[in-house]
Amino acid sequence: MKIKADWILPDLKQAQKRTKKEVERIDHFEIPENARFIGQGKKYYISTFGCQANERDSETLAGILDMMEFVPCDDPSQADLVLINTCAVRQNAEEKVLGEVGNLKRFYRDNKDFVIGICGCMAQEEALVQKIITTYPQVRLMFGTHNIQDLPNMLYRVMFQHERLIQVYSKEGEVYENLPVHRFGNYKAWVNIMYGCDKFCTYCIVPYTRGKERSRTMDQVLKEVQELKDEGYQEITLLGQNVNAYGKDLHTDYDFATLLEETAKIGIPRIRFTTSHPWDFSDAMIDIIAKYDNIMPFVHLPMQSGDSDVLKRMGRRYTAESYKELFDKISSRIPNVAISTDIIVGFPNETDEQFQHTLDMVKYCKFDNAFTFIYSPREGTPAARMEDSISKETKSKRLAILNKTWNDFALEKNQAYVGRTVKVLVDGPSKKNENVYTGYTDTNKIVNFTGENIAVGQIVDVKIECAKTFSLDGKAV
Ligand code: SAH
Ligand code: SF4
Ligand code: F3S
Repeated sequence: MKIKADWILPDLKQAQKRTKKEVERIDHFEIPENARFIGQGKKYYISTFGCQANERDSETLAGILDMMEFVPCDDPSQADLVLINTCAVRQNAEEKVLGEVGNLKRFYRDNKDFVIGICGCMAQEEALVQKIITTYPQVRLMFGTHNIQDLPNMLYRVMFQHERLIQVYSKEGEVYENLPVHRFGNYKAWVNIMYGCDKFCTYCIVPYTRGKERSRTMDQVLKEVQELKDEGYQEITLLGQNVNAYGKDLHTDYDFATLLEETAKIGIPRIRFTTSHPWDFSDAMIDIIAKYDNIMPFVHLPMQSGDSDVLKRMGRRYTAESYKELFDKISSRIPNVAISTDIIVGFPNETDEQFQHTLDMVKYCKFDNAFTFIYSPREGTPAARMEDSISKETKSKRLAILNKTWNDFALEKNQAYVGRTVKVLVDGPSKKNENVYTGYTDTNKIVNFTGENIAVGQIVDVKIECAKTFSLDGKAV
């Protein structure tokens, strides 16, 4: 397959560059005249992989498509346009996407007007894009995380000029305000407070796929939160790869603690935030979380490893000791707090002893929840260039041991809830049984419970009767 002259292909070297240039802020959005009605009579389906940043991006994609008069549908076989918003953080995330693209091939075979587009973090990867170009001709459109606002024009070219189009900028990125949004939830919403990442942990692709750390202004964030409150939203989650770095790039006198406090004052019943890096987690943040009842007592604090040497090679900027200190501070100062984490096993050349340090830390912290991964080399990152002497089998064994360890503690943590009455924000009747409802506690525990006259989006009191490793069972009171 030939590379077309006007394609813009990803460039990881370019994506890595960081300058001191002022971030461009763009607050107008318009659909070009020729693309305004191209969705009439057509349906779209969006499939989303990866983190909340992607979920929120999909809501923007949907908002733009709605403006072009496309109609959403929940079955790709009924759609005229399928967008796959992808994640590149680990190899298996990519494999899932390629599987889905394979499944869609038959629709393209039967209907050459069927448009499959790939966007999101995978589109920012050089090798992946080359692979799609040559092996997946059914993919008609690929665009990156910095190209979302140009969707109308790209679709016009693909649908009306019958081009195959690749448009992936590799740059630091701008801050767009006022892009349309079609929220997928009616009472829970995502709010971006910043984009990108400058931490460059040595294993991680995110700084390359999402550009530099750039904050929205506090005014813009608070305006959005106020609107969500006025629309009746019960819960918002403030999003950033490193929320504690919020505001640093703006050179003003406010930071994440200030933003968190101002958000709390608006009075949405539940406020969450993710992700807070253990580096730069300020005392002021802890105080604010403890002070406001509507800031949920739940902190996701990715540890990655319990060994200082591995942490150093990961470029994490904290040690096992300082992680432990921070953990102690958070758990002693925020009443009833729950803490979850992310852990990577099998980072290049991780020794048995170093892995044991991770287990020791898990035993010390007794996390409420953990997301555990086997290290996956990402092309273009420093860790992918490290030689690795640890076998796949060893890594899998370590993952199994780690999971068993944290699961046991999570069960123990959950057992402490039995007999207590907790507040649950109701997500809906369970899929299996409509007399059973599901929802989350303030501490982010999933609760399955029975009750009568329960409405979605309500916050109800539930008495916990039984604890499992990943959920609690109870009865509405
Ligand atoms: N910004 C967040 C993490 C976002 S990625 C933070 O710094 O905490 C989510 C998680 O994926 C990471 O915390 C890490 O545990 C995992 N991860 C990232 N890159 C990975 C890789 N190359 N292999 C395995 N896990 C990885
Ligand atoms: Fe990746 Fe590290 Fe940035 Fe998190 S802080 S997104 S792990 S580079
Ligand atoms: Fe994945 Fe991109 Fe998020 S790589 S984890 S979707 S920032």
